[in-house]
Parts: sequence; C-alpha cells; structure tokens
Amino acid sequence: MARLTLVSAALLGVVYCQNGTGSITDLPSYMTHINATRNDSSPVVLHIDTKDASKRNATAPYLYGLMHEDISHSGDGGIYAELLANRAFQGSNWNTTLLPNYNGSLIGPSENPVEPIAPVLTAWAAIGNGTRITLDRLHPLSSAIPTGIEIDFPENAEGEVGFQNFGWWGMNVEPQTYNVSFYVQGNYPRNQENTTAFTVSLRSNLTGEVFASSTVSNVSVSFIDHTFVTTTLHPNATAPNSNNTFVITFDGDTVKGQTYYFSLFSLMPETFMGTPNGLRKDIAQAFYDMNPTFLRFPGGNNLEGVSPQQRWKWWETLGPLTDRPGRAGDWGYYNTQGLGLLEYLQWTEDMNIERLLAVYAGFSLDVWGQSGASYPPDRMQEILQEALDEIEFCQGNITSKWGSVRASLGHPEPFDIKFVEIGNEDWFSNTYPYRWEYLYNGLKAAYPNITYISTAYNEASTSFGYNISIPSGELWDTHHYEEPSFFVRGFDFYDNWQERTNNTGVEIFLGEYSALQIDTPTGIVDFSFPADVHIMYPRLVSALSEGVYLLGMERNPNVCKLSAYAPSLQDFNWYNWTPDMIGFDADPSHTVLSASYWLQLLLGSYRGTQTLPVTNSEGDFNPLFWVATLDEDKNCIYLKVINILGDSVPLSANIPEAYRSVNGTILTAADLNSYNYIYNQTEVVPKPLNISTSAPTGYGDDAVFKWDVPRWSITVLQFDL
Ligand code: AHR
Repeated sequence: MARLTLVSAALLGVVYCQNGTGSITDLPSYMTHINATRNDSSPVVLHIDTKDASKRNATAPYLYGLMHEDISHSGDGGIYAELLANRAFQGSNWNTTLLPNYNGSLIGPSENPVEPIAPVLTAWAAIGNGTRITLDRLHPLSSAIPTGIEIDFPENAEGEVGFQNFGWWGMNVEPQTYNVSFYVQGNYPRNQENTTAFTVSLRSNLTGEVFASSTVSNVSVSFIDHTFVTTTLHPNATAPNSNNTFVITFDGDTVKGQTYYFSLFSLMPETFMGTPNGLRKDIAQAFYDMNPTFLRFPGGNNLEGVSPQQRWKWWETLGPLTDRPGRAGDWGYYNTQGLGLLEYLQWTEDMNIERLLAVYAGFSLDVWGQSGASYPPDRMQEILQEALDEIEFCQGNITSKWGSVRASLGHPEPFDIKFVEIGNEDWFSNTYPYRWEYLYNGLKAAYPNITYISTAYNEASTSFGYNISIPSGELWDTHHYEEPSFFVRGFDFYDNWQERTNNTGVEIFLGEYSALQIDTPTGIVDFSFPADVHIMYPRLVSALSEGVYLLGMERNPNVCKLSAYAPSLQDFNWYNWTPDMIGFDADPSHTVLSASYWLQLLLGSYRGTQTLPVTNSEGDFNPLFWVATLDEDKNCIYLKVINILGDSVPLSANIPEAYRSVNGTILTAADLNSYNYIYNQTEVVPKPLNISTSAPTGYGDDAVFKWDVPRWSITVLQFDL
C-alpha cells in the first residue's frame, strides 16, 4: 500500500538537514512505548531442550549480511576511499522537481542550467591573483573522461599560484601514505620548452597550515598527450579537524603566462586490507566487525537507473579509471564508478563473505513516468546476455571471454557467486512476470548452482495484480520500511509461512528494512519522511523492534535465509535517506555506529549452529521475545532475549545441562528514543552484563538461571557447557 508512495520518495533525491546533537529533547517525535507491546511484566519461565537432537534445526548460516548501493554518498565520498570530490569533472548533483501541470517528477537542473547533470567545477577553486580555472573539453583524456580543467596563469603571476580541491566536505589528514596522481598536458604556444615543478600538499582550509607536501620537479609536460604524474604525501601528524584541502601549486614566476590542461586527479589514503582503489578503512572495519556473511550490491534503486541508459552498466565500471565514464546515479548525484564491479568483488574477498549480486532486470525507475521503463519481451535476450556475461566475469574460467577480462585486470581466481537477485523492487512495474520468467529460466539453465532471488511475489493486492511463482529453493526479497509495531507484530509472520502461503520450498531474504517512523494511529508509513513522525537516526526503539522481527526469522531458519539493513551508510553532509545504519563525514572520529548497527553486530556475532526448542511454562511472547541456539563449535548455548516493555521482566531459564559459566552482552539505554550521534556516539552501545549479581542457581544437571530482564533491552546470554 505504501509502495507507490515510495517511488516518489526514492526519486525525490531529497536532502534533509541534519538534526540535533543526540539529546532526546531535540527529537521532533518522541515515543513513550511501542503500541504493540503487551503491558504484562509477570514472570516468564523457559525450558531449553538441550537433550533431544531430533528437535533441532540448523541455523541459517547467511542470516546477517550487508546491503550497499551508492545512496547518500555512501559510495563516492563514503566507503570508496578516494578523497577528491569531482575528481574528473564528470558532474555533481541533479534535482527532481514537480512542475505544475506535469505528471510525476522531472529531473531539473542543479548546478548546471543546461544539462541537469553535466561537468562542473564543484569542489575546485583557483589559487593566486588572476589564476583562472575553466572546464576544458578540447583535450579529452579518453572517451570515458572527456572533460578536464584548463588553468591559465596571468603574465604577472607571482608567488604561489595553483588550485585546490575541498574533498567530500573536507578530508581526513593523518600520518599515513597518500597516493597522488593526475594527468596534465601543456599548451604549445604558451609553454614551449618548459619543464614544470608541481607541488602537491595537504593543508588546513582554516589556517593554511601545510601537513604534508611533495614537489615533482622537472616534469616535461607533453603538448600532444597527457603526462601521468604520481607522488606520495606523508603527513607527520593528524590534522586537528577535517576542514582540509588538497592543493597543487607552482611558483608564479616560472609559470606566468602559461596554460595547462589537467584531468582525472586522485588522492588515495591507505585502504582497508591495503587493497588498491579500495575501501575507506574505518567504515569498512565497522562493517567487518559486524561479522557479516554476504554483501548485496550494487542496489537498490541505484542498479536500475533513472533511465535504461543510466542503469548500472557493469562493464563500464571495470579497468583503469581512464576507462570509467561514470553515470548519473539514481540518488541525485554523479557516480564515478570508482567503486566498480571488481571493487565490490574485492570487498567481499577482503571480508571473506559471500556475494549477492543484483543484476539489471530490464526495468528502470525513470523519473519521467512513475511506472518506470520496462524492456519489452522481444528485447529481453539483450538483458539476459548482460547478466550472463556479468556472472561469467565474476566466476568464469580464465579461458572464457569475460573470465579472461577479469584475469587481465589482475584477478584470475574466480569469485564464486552464491546468490543472484533479479532486479530490485520490481513490484513497481507490471512487467516483472515476463521479465522474471525470462531471466530466471535463462540464468538457471546456465548457472544451476546459483540461488536466485525474486524481488516480487504476491502482488495481487496492488493495482498490477499478479503473483510471481518462485520455484522451490529460490528466494523472495521482501523489504520493510515500517513502524516499530509492525516489526513486533511480525514476530511470528514466518512461522509456517511456506505452508500457510502455499509456497513450498520458497525462502526469504529480508533485503532491506528499518524502523522508518514512530508508531502512528494508522500504521501507514509516510515516505515523504514528515519530521513529526520520521525516525532520523536509529533509536533504541528501532533496535528493539527490528530485533524482535529478526528473532522471528532466527526461529524459522528453514524459511528465513538472509537479511540486511538498508541503507547502510549516510554522509551527514549530503543524504537522501534516513535512518541509516552508519553515519559519517570526512572525519573518521565522527563515524557513528547506530543502535541498529549494534543490534545486528550482536545478533550476527552469536548465531549458533543449531536452534534449540524452548517451551515456556509461565508467561508468553511479548513483552519478552527469545530464541536459543547451540554453538557446536564453541560448545555453548546462546539465549537471545529482547524485552520491549518499559519495566523489567523476571526470567527463569531451565537448562538441563551443567554449564560451566554464563556471561552476556546487553544493548539498552535510558530511553526508547535514545540514539547515537556525532557528539554523543555511545548513548546506545552494547555492554557486558554483570552476571555476578545475578548468578545462576542450581548448577548441575538441571540448572536454573534467574534474572530480571531490564526494561527495553536486547541481551545475548552465553552459557558455556
Ligand atoms: O534503501 C533505499 C531504497 O529503498 C533502495 O534503493 C530501494 O530498493 C528501496 O526503495
């Protein structure tokens, strides 16, 4: 029902202002309780069956993973480590606008009045009196990178002259190696027989302090081709803040009256695992610490394009940066595609996780018409071939056409693909039935060992009115941007789901979810994100309610196989969508791990290998929710308990097993609305549970663990056997 509203939200490219400093009094909307909570704090008595192995189920090994698409500058300016904004003058932002008397959204100009997204000088500025920088298309570096800048020094230039880049709202400077590169060409009449010295530096934008500098001398700049210049920078100290710039300067005396054409700059800090052209260290580390098991990429809406031409063309994301044209991303800004297919694959390898590759399914959102643009049936072969080639690129033998391209790019070993998602949220269209069938049949025939994921299922209730028949063993990707009570009520949704819905063998991927707004009387989610109900940063109530739903999934490992929160990242300076799992800006000390992040880290770090049957002789689910698993490798039992009531609830857990010790980790906070923010990053963080004050009674063959479960808390108890 809220789905069609989502189209407009997804395409509005809205940039919201940042709010508050983490104080709950700043919140425009405040929750005092979760509507779906049963107000009953009477004791709960559980019996965990550790004896009857026939009643156990294997847990879902890939339940907790990651979703990444370039949204809210999560890619360019985010996890992609490149520090220069608009490094190749490809474009910056575009807007969507609603015009009177026109149907739907239209792409409007943002920084360029002629084309909505086009080369701009955003993030660059000249240094020195009379120094001029302009866009230049007369000296293209390559067909993919046709635009550079021309820099003209006046005849009377003196002192320090040059230009600078302000980064993605600043840049982090600390003691490490920064790799610098750029391309430069001279102007023959104005530079003849000159060699040039380029000084590159990292400086404070506030004080001008130079943190690191390097001069590349005697460069003989060609007039015919671009000369590739590289150097490194090594700051000795950490800059006091991230308001820093990257600067290229010259001695005015030596360049007066001269002109140069520059193209494709890069300033790369050290990356996660040292991978070239890789990931920003602190953000990648935060993902890694969650113990994820897979990565879904590259979208999301950003897979689909705002037109078929602007879809994520994987083959245009490969190879040298000089060959990557980039594209107008779906989320209102230009994507450089520096984070391309091979970089995504490398990301999964660096984190040792599975790949969930989303392939284009012949549907683009297309802001011009709300129902999007679909490939017709007689052109689906092209789209199938595109997907087949993409999979071949990932995992094909090096003798195959695309496998050999991968090998030529330095990775002869195949990246096995375990999951392929066919499209994204295709319930926005009425064409998925034929597109799914065509692509599924074609892909399954070629790659029978891959598990395929449908993005639509039972759309009978929408205006399109269709059902997708998902074959046994394949998955349905369902997305939930909802209210807290939705997740609480959904705790038992997957109990007997296959039988209830007649979907024998169909499995579930919760591909995107978050508590998007507080509980409202209607329960209808408003995707225009109104401030009086919208949840901007994940709160304790988000973690509690999302956690209840995830426990419901853990209880049903035969059905629920994968899940990932979305969106995963948000630049605090420029974003389309909130809430997000992790927020950041240029300063790594500002990276905020949200309540929802900690929830997933907790649940994902203590998975267990087998579910254990739990019966209750007193009390029922709600306000307490629980799941028990056995970890055969670590020889322990995990009991995950969530209390969504504003009072503590007495819990007894009977374990017919002698356990050696018990410890636990708890995620709670002072208030349902507590959240983490730049200036208050630890309001909601997991803490070790002080079990000594609540020691188990009855050690021995039949141990009883007694504990008052604190109000509004998520706890993982670990009983070592
Ligand atoms: O996560 C943000 C967006 O929400 C995704 O791109 C899309 O799949 C969904 O509509």
